[in-house]
Amino acid sequence: MLLSFKNVSLVYKPDHQVLDRVSFTLSDSGFYFLTGPSGAGKSSLLRLIYQAERPTSGDISVFGEALDAQKKAELRRKIGVVFQDFRLIPHLSAWENAALPLRLMGVEETYVKSHSRELLEWVGVGHRLDARPDELSGGEQQRIAIARAVVTKPKLLLADEPTGNVDESTALKLFHLFDELNKLGTAVILATHQSHLVDKFHKPALRLADGRLKRF
Ligand SMILES: Nc1ncnc2c1ncn2[C@@H]1O[C@H](COP(=O)(O)OP(=O)(O)OP(=O)(O)O)[C@@H](O)[C@H]1O
Ligand SMILES: [Mg+2]
Repeated sequence: MLLSFKNVSLVYKPDHQVLDRVSFTLSDSGFYFLTGPSGAGKSSLLRLIYQAERPTSGDISVFGEALDAQKKAELRRKIGVVFQDFRLIPHLSAWENAALPLRLMGVEETYVKSHSRELLEWVGVGHRLDARPDELSGGEQQRIAIARAVVTKPKLLLADEPTGNVDESTALKLFHLFDELNKLGTAVILATHQSHLVDKFHKPALRLADGRLKRF
């Protein structure tokens, strides 16, 4: 089992209910869209999965295990996240940003360099390896955030609006890359409100609206 939500509610203080008894299961390492209008709770739902937020009530399990505060670091090592706001480190170059998770794992430097550069080529920013984030366009920064999220070959990729800052043809290319990654064994949950892009890919989707989740 990849993911299970059972009657999960999330209420932000003092009384803003974002999720209302949401239940669903994702059984295999597929490619899933998470859609719904701005403010519907897509980012919040992803935050629950990587334990940046705790549900107000209900049960969540990831990779067949109930979430456990003690095991947060262990869980996060298996999950790559593309944050909606990128969160690149400003004083590091593009390739050092992409390489950071591998460095933190103590991976051997020659592999760190070659693999992170290869991924930056893959997302189409191989020509900007030494630039710092403030020297890059929003779409370039976003693609570096994507490379960083997948550099450790996570079991699950949570991509929060990962093509919100690129043009339509780059977005389609990136969707194909996520699909390729999925075929190599990484489960993908991609949150987006760009429904015209979702329509072009025939993948299962979860749709959030008014606190409830529908699957289609
Ligand atoms: N930390 C927080 N505290 C209080 N309210 C929050 C917090 N984070 C999000 N919200 C509110 O919860 C709702 C859901 O936010 P969320 O960011 O999950 O939506 P979203 O579907 O990702 O939207 P978007 O498509 O604009 O990214 C919004 O109304 C937002 O204002
Ligand atoms: Mg969001």
